[in-house]
Amino acid sequence: NVLILDFGSQYTQLIARRVRELNIYCEIHPYNKPPEDITNYKAVILSGSPFSVRGENAPHPDLSEIRKKVPVLAVCYGAQYLAHFNGGKVEASEIREYGRANLSVIKDEEALFENIRENSQVWMSHSDTIKELPENGVRLASTPDVLNAAYRIEGEDTYAIQFHPEVYHSTDGKQLLENFLVKIAGVEQEWTPEAFVDMTVAELKDKIGDEKVVLGLSGGVDSTVAAVLLHKAIGKNLYCIFVNNGLLRKGEFESVLDQYKHMGLNVKGVDASARFLDALAGISDPEGKRKAIGKAFIEVFDDEAHLIKDVKFLAQGTIYPDVIESISVNGPSATIKSHHNVGGLPDFMKLQVVEPLRMLFKDEVRRVGAELEIDKELLGRHPFPGPGLAIRILGDITAEKVRVLQEVDAIFINGLKEWMLYDKVWQAGAILLPVNSVGVMGDERTYEKVVALRAVESTDGMTADWVNLPYDFLQKTSNTIINRVKGVNRVVYDISSKPPATIEWE
Ligand code: XMP
Repeated sequence: NVLILDFGSQYTQLIARRVRELNIYCEIHPYNKPPEDITNYKAVILSGSPFSVRGENAPHPDLSEIRKKVPVLAVCYGAQYLAHFNGGKVEASEIREYGRANLSVIKDEEALFENIRENSQVWMSHSDTIKELPENGVRLASTPDVLNAAYRIEGEDTYAIQFHPEVYHSTDGKQLLENFLVKIAGVEQEWTPEAFVDMTVAELKDKIGDEKVVLGLSGGVDSTVAAVLLHKAIGKNLYCIFVNNGLLRKGEFESVLDQYKHMGLNVKGVDASARFLDALAGISDPEGKRKAIGKAFIEVFDDEAHLIKDVKFLAQGTIYPDVIESISVNGPSATIKSHHNVGGLPDFMKLQVVEPLRMLFKDEVRRVGAELEIDKELLGRHPFPGPGLAIRILGDITAEKVRVLQEVDAIFINGLKEWMLYDKVWQAGAILLPVNSVGVMGDERTYEKVVALRAVESTDGMTADWVNLPYDFLQKTSNTIINRVKGVNRVVYDISSKPPATIEWE
């Protein structure tokens, strides 16, 4: 078990991902809310930070409990922090130290640098620099601009590096993390999907016993993997509810419900389309739509949950990024869009919450899903927002607009699959714009709707770029949409990145 103490760096999650990729389990805790007994951990990594150690409000945690007891790797801010308060000197650097640099290892007998190439590329991102090493500090590596790029403290397993081993551009970064964790700290590489499944199923059995659990399925990867895990643990005592809010993709409710049944899940499909459409009538504001949908979902789900006698637990497909976000150093970040599926359900349901995936990243959820033999196609599905097509119909929502958008979306998505482009795209969909434009069909003037197509590449949805889809494909898709979908006479392709745009238009 590895502990990452977070000082608020944007890269902290990446450290955790790299460690997990080494099949080593790790947890992120904010530096100001550390776990009670740090000696339970086999190694500690101190993250970077947006602060300067010299700043007044900078994190200044007490490390005396950690050092000498557990091997420590201090990254960037962590390295400066260690130096600053232990007899070293940290100052603003004269030159900017951002981006690529090449590392020369001085002490290459050190386990930390085993199998790391000479002049290995590392990624720097800091404006302070370590001028003097702390007491008992021994320099291990330098770059042309950074003298103290890596050091250790003599007499203890405490290491510090100024660069970021977790980013992709530090080419041997993962090797360095492995050296620290496996060679120096002696951590076992046992964290595999198989081990996770065994451990989680045993824990769920233990926690839930013979009680009943209710779970809302969405058709997405997270809730499906959570359901299959729970099903493996408690079988028929898992009651799944799959709500059709009428804003899903064309034919999706029926086909996904069918898939769930084939997987042996005890699932009830509830068609509440009319209720959602009613709740949305006349609402054009994006956040208003999300709230109306969130509220309707809770009502429908609550009605259904009450039909199950003596249910004690509510299971959710919450994953690690949501958890980290809600407990991070900076607290939950500003609401740009209120993603309703993260907020949880209201207190009045009085159920105990079970979240079997709360320690997993998305790619790990997919690997666990594969281990559970969930259909590849289901695991590879693009993300789809909880409010569904409602936030892809700009302006107010009517049954007719939903129908039009479902047709357009189906042509686009099926086309991506036929052209073998679906798996190259992280997320795709169509947006119905609230404008009419003039066209000509045969000899007739038309005055109909415009749709936008959006396809992005991303790893986590936080940043994204539009995909360079082949012109032939766009041409064919546009043609098919305009010829087949009545009410649409123009198709455009969205070429905006996130930031500054977002993936969805609302
Ligand atoms: P944005 O538009 O914020 O989207 O760039 C990032 C990712 O989040 C999804 N998204 C939502 N998911 N409820 C959800 O469950 C929402 O209200 C919501 N809004 C956006 C979006 O589809 C993309 O994957």
